[in-house]
Amino acid sequence: MSGCRVLDGGAQRDAARELAADVAAGLSSTPKSLPSKWLYDAEGSRLFRRITELAEYYPTRAEAEILRRHRDDILARVGGGPLDLVDLGAGDGRKTMLLLEWLRHEGRDFRYVPIDISEAAVRGLVGAASDRLPGLQVEGLVSQYAAGIDWLRKERGARRRLALFLGSSIGNLTRPQAETFLRGLSRALAEGDHVLIGFDLKKDIGRLVRAYDDRHGVTAQFNLNLLARINRELGGRFDLTRFRHYATWDVARGAVESWLVSTEAQAVPVEALGRAFAFEAWEGIHTEYSHKYLESDVIALADASGFTVEAGFTDRRGWFLDSLWRVGPRSR
Ligand code: TRP
Repeated sequence: MSGCRVLDGGAQRDAARELAADVAAGLSSTPKSLPSKWLYDAEGSRLFRRITELAEYYPTRAEAEILRRHRDDILARVGGGPLDLVDLGAGDGRKTMLLLEWLRHEGRDFRYVPIDISEAAVRGLVGAASDRLPGLQVEGLVSQYAAGIDWLRKERGARRRLALFLGSSIGNLTRPQAETFLRGLSRALAEGDHVLIGFDLKKDIGRLVRAYDDRHGVTAQFNLNLLARINRELGGRFDLTRFRHYATWDVARGAVESWLVSTEAQAVPVEALGRAFAFEAWEGIHTEYSHKYLESDVIALADASGFTVEAGFTDRRGWFLDSLWRVGPRSR
């Protein structure tokens, strides 16, 4: 088993219809908003990879440091025997590679199952992982999280599983969404399986906001690509020079919010929807929340979603946490 499989043959067609429906609904609501999952087409995934290399965007480097320093401990806690490593929202998979290399080094029997919404990302990752680790058992799935969880439920069998939810993907969900998602994940896994989840921790607010508004404007380009995508896929007529990327910290929510703000009054036609959307000057479109966590939030979330915290691993600066959770009874 090696190669890249599209989980559901109709997934891409459905995605086009779903994008259209989300744009129609999101641009008709007050305030306007667009779901952040649509940021990741091939171009968006490429731009996000550039974000991960920016000086201001510390989470990727912090998490790589954690995995490099603690991979032996993490994988020892997951236990022996054949292992499926299921990577939800794998992206370019570079951090996961640190775990795969260690499993190979230890001579473990394992399969790698990267799941991502971007087909380009999955294809690139499967190729790169197979080149790096010849003979690797890998099956890439192009799908959203929900279909990834379905896959986990169906494949529930003899093999131990470690589900990875790295980066700050969990932060892109609101607290109630995170709880629902994780409860679904715990039910799709078997008792004794593990999840390793990345949490970006609360820290100096200036540092947090800069991570979402870099001085080279890569993050702005990444966010604006959402409008370019609507132009490409739905025949939209967004003029990207008339929108500005804006990132701000919401104290009450504990999240960095990303917005696209219309710098003037304008009407933007979207051909596939057969209508135009009116913007007042300085009206915003909300595109993403990046929730930041306290350690107490992490413990509460594990508790609420059917997991037990097994161990936590932070980088030397204490900016990021990879939390290892076990499915099962509340006490050992
Ligand atoms: N999951 C990433 C994060 O929350 C995505 C991201 C980084 C992002 N920078 C962004 C999303 C800017 C929208 C806008 O850190």
